[in-house]
Amino acid sequence: MGLADFMKEARGQLDLTSEALKLVAARFETAMREGLAGRPSSLRMLPSYLARPGGGERGDAVAVDFGGTNVRVLRVRLADGRAQSEKSSSFCLKDPKGTYDHTRAQTRAEELFDFIARHVADVLAGESAILPLGHTFSFPCRQEGINQAVLIQWTKEIRTSGVEGRDVTPLLTEALERQGVRHVRPRAVINDTVGTLIAAAYQLRDVDLGSICGTGHNTCYLEPCHPLTGQPMIVNMESGNFDGVTLTPFDRAVNDASGYPGAQLLEKQVSGAYLGEVVLAALRAMTAEGLLPAANKSWDRGTLTGVNLTQVLKDGPDCGKTKSVAQTQLALTDLSKEQLLSIRKLVESVTGRSARLAGATYAGVVRYLDPGLGRGHVVAIDGSLYAHMPGYDAGIRAGLEAVLGPGARSVTTRLIKDGSGIGAAIAAVVADAQA
Ligand code: GLC
Repeated sequence: MGLADFMKEARGQLDLTSEALKLVAARFETAMREGLAGRPSSLRMLPSYLARPGGGERGDAVAVDFGGTNVRVLRVRLADGRAQSEKSSSFCLKDPKGTYDHTRAQTRAEELFDFIARHVADVLAGESAILPLGHTFSFPCRQEGINQAVLIQWTKEIRTSGVEGRDVTPLLTEALERQGVRHVRPRAVINDTVGTLIAAAYQLRDVDLGSICGTGHNTCYLEPCHPLTGQPMIVNMESGNFDGVTLTPFDRAVNDASGYPGAQLLEKQVSGAYLGEVVLAALRAMTAEGLLPAANKSWDRGTLTGVNLTQVLKDGPDCGKTKSVAQTQLALTDLSKEQLLSIRKLVESVTGRSARLAGATYAGVVRYLDPGLGRGHVVAIDGSLYAHMPGYDAGIRAGLEAVLGPGARSVTTRLIKDGSGIGAAIAAVVADAQA
């Protein structure tokens, strides 16, 4: 097979048609209904026990934002409809120099939470006022209340032992006690998508979806009448686990090589942690066809990062940036212009598919909420892909338009920076007032 034929076939699989995106949105809507009714579904539809905030919440709170290998601790002040982060510290659970890694299976839950609690102690050093704490824990959790969350299963390739199946609130509370932090009270535990929706809704009207397009991918929405309470409640769909999109051979290769084959299929097609892996799978297929020279380096997981893909997307007509990524990351030199252009097109197809798929799932939620598209809807989004990847927002819009047609005009997308932490602080203040 020649390069042109290979590219035609690969792009035929990756560049989803409007019909394919409509099918994704329809399957997503069905999966939402099934999951909400408690029937088998790849959408977990987890209750958060939180509704949209009123905007008048006031007070000080601490937020612990545990999203993946990075954790942030923030001290937040809410006043007059504004949330301000007054102090913050960000740290990695995995030392880049390799001296420690709290995300591997050899680490126990207590060690991980002690490490986090020590950072809370640092941020609050010298303070004595009693503060409510909101914990953003961005993994699938079974909740039976606002301050209780049992980890169902790790995602994002984290493996720390002894956390799955346990409620993370006592894990954090006991660690804070062990570290001598006695003036904070954990009050709420939320998902990062829920935090993003809450932080946006604190300031804006019409926000009914919250989503993360970053290392991980997931979306929540405001269910107008939750079956558990008959009241409005934000539902964490864990949409990264959605299985309604046809897998290409590249997706199958990524899935087979992952820590959780069969799980988080949409996340493996959309999120920053996996986009480079999908591109690598396509490049491996090209090499196997003799369309790229064999590299004298193995392409391990993480060989192509989101930053590398962004560099390629920003390339000019001379393909200089693609050439440099091919040399430094893939150890491929002396590529022809046609080969460099093919690599760039693959990156465009894989990242474009990610954005369009996210847009199609948002369209599915909007259809579920408002079949006649009679009102405005805001999707609050955070994450590195949405914030930094060229063309990502345009791709989301293309996905929305493919499904909703001109009705997509009723849907607005908004970048909400650090919403996951701010949202946890808002949730903590709300829960503290109810305690
Ligand atoms: C993963 C987690 C989910 C989280 C998302 C974004 O999909 O399972 O809970 O919201 O990543 O961080």
